[in-house]
Amino acid sequence: MRQEPRAAPGQTVVQAAPVPSKKTPPETPPPASTSELVRFGVAVERPLLDAFDEHLARRGYQNRSEALRDLVRAELTRDAWDRGEQAIATISIIYDHHVRELTERLIEIQHDHGDRVISATHVHLDHDHCLEVVLAKGPANQLKRLADRLIGAKGVISGEVSGMAIVGRPRAAPVHAHEHGHSHDHAPAAPRRAPARAAKRS
Ligand code: NI
Repeated sequence: MRQEPRAAPGQTVVQAAPVPSKKTPPETPPPASTSELVRFGVAVERPLLDAFDEHLARRGYQNRSEALRDLVRAELTRDAWDRGEQAIATISIIYDHHVRELTERLIEIQHDHGDRVISATHVHLDHDHCLEVVLAKGPANQLKRLADRLIGAKGVISGEVSGMAIVGRPRAAPVHAHEHGHSHDHAPAAPRRAPARAAKRS
């Protein structure tokens, strides 16, 4: 039998229980491929729990467990990114394509990291401005270096990098061995640009 966790004075024991709301279906069991669920008690101050519940309601979570799992994954992802582990980066930059040699410079930087860049999407925002979104995969420290170079290039108006990592999952083989139901090759794709600019690629 599981023992009920006890709260210290001033604390409230939080069970992995549904958030009181009109729509509280029973916890959805995870897909068969994930690990077995483990329950544990968490002691937390009442005001913190109330704030958490309000946050869950705003976000549309139907129970605390799912929200807590997401928070844990987000923190583990941040940590994996900080420690330079295998990750996926989305790097977005906005720049003025009239700035001398900037377009060429941005292409050059991507070619320098060609084994990490999966794709590049270019959007002509208006007469002056371009948006480029680069997807890259590899050790987070290399992805950060790529992002720093792109965002830091002289003439780039604004830039943002978002790092993701697959955390809290059983380790998979580096080249995937699972069935897709469709075929495609896994050779690293060359960075691509909008057709209008394809001729400028080296
Ligand atoms: Ni453009």
